[in-house]
Amino acid sequence: MALKLEPGARLVVATHNPGKARELAEILGGGFQIATAGELGLREPEETESTFAGNALLKARLAADASGRIALADDSGLSVRALDGQPGVYSARWAGPGRDFPLAMAKVEERLGAAESDDLAAWFTCALALAWPDGPVVVVEGRVDGSLTFPPRGGRGFGYDPIFVPEGRRETFGEMDPAEKEQMSHRSRAFAKLKAALI
Ligand code: IMP
Repeated sequence: MALKLEPGARLVVATHNPGKARELAEILGGGFQIATAGELGLREPEETESTFAGNALLKARLAADASGRIALADDSGLSVRALDGQPGVYSARWAGPGRDFPLAMAKVEERLGAAESDDLAAWFTCALALAWPDGPVVVVEGRVDGSLTFPPRGGRGFGYDPIFVPEGRRETFGEMDPAEKEQMSHRSRAFAKLKAALI
């Protein structure tokens, strides 16, 4: 089904993080009146689903129904094949309340050691959900495949970027020019799919 997003539409981006809201709004191409869930005083739900798509859908649905606006939500993370896809939807939570990503990356290395596997395959996933109030929802996923490397390398990027080498490259996402990372990222692939699903 092709869904229409009219220019000038009032959207809510289902995040309390203004930086993330701006980034998501920019990729949509502008022309919309954007508010964040925080600005509208909407509550931030717990991410209780076991898939990225499930969590994005849950956040978009709740924000759309509570605000009466079309709502955009995302969920993303790193999956490691030898760890049965972990940390997956727990990617942010592995860094703890202090958002300590050196700790989270050390945890990945430690769990890989415990799994006694030399399989370093991993991928980033980004799910995006766009929900109409009391109406339909579109959910798409973008993915970038690669392999892990230790110790972490590079001070650019964020999160797990310093241990992730995308397929066909030698540098980690943490060493790469951010614009170059963006071109191949799970997030931009998900947005391309979302745009294709809309008219
Ligand atoms: P979310 O904000 O709940 O979607 O959490 C996503 C988590 O996944 C972030 O805290 C990051 O740790 C991780 N993550 C997602 N995308 C990337 C990326 O492009 N690079 C590095 N880490 C990422």
